[in-house]
Amino acid sequence: MATPLTLGIVKPDAVETGKAGKIIAYLEDAGFVLRAARLVRLTQAEAGAFYAVHRERPFYSGLVEFMTSGPCLPMALERADAVSHLRAVIGATDPAEAEAGTIRKLYAESKGRNAIHASDSLENAAREVGFFFTEGELAGLWGQDKRKVTSDK
Ligand code: RTP
Ligand code: MG
Repeated sequence: MATPLTLGIVKPDAVETGKAGKIIAYLEDAGFVLRAARLVRLTQAEAGAFYAVHRERPFYSGLVEFMTSGPCLPMALERADAVSHLRAVIGATDPAEAEAGTIRKLYAESKGRNAIHASDSLENAAREVGFFFTEGELAGLWGQDKRKVTSDK
């Protein structure tokens, strides 16, 4: 993938409690450009496939149940160092361990209901952006020459 995209998902807890807008505003203030976004209700099969890397873990079934419990908001986000920077601003998986000012510290309820997902590597970012958005869709939304240049806020 030519552009430094990563995938964020506002998880069902944050959509349900009306935090989606605040999280998008946080991300835009942090220099991310929304390249694509869509409210979706994942099926069990989709959530299971998306988090397949965790299928042997004890929390997997609860994770799939939670991710299918209501709508979530996948976002293709662009920024310099998009993958590592998004991981930095979301904070630790457990909000009790997240640094002050991070998204999970501000908006997450618990380790299971933790407000936002972020891709954890360049390889997974490409896979995960492709899970929700096609190349044609990404290009079509912005056009070739209207794409914003990423800032480094
Ligand atoms: P995410 O993939 O959603 O961005 O979260 P993450 O990288 O910070 O954490 P990861 O290890 O990939 O785990 C995926 C999600 O599974 C839930 N989890 N529960 N009970 C537990 O010990 C446990 N561990 C992980 C969390 O909701 C986590 O976001
Ligand atoms: Mg993860």
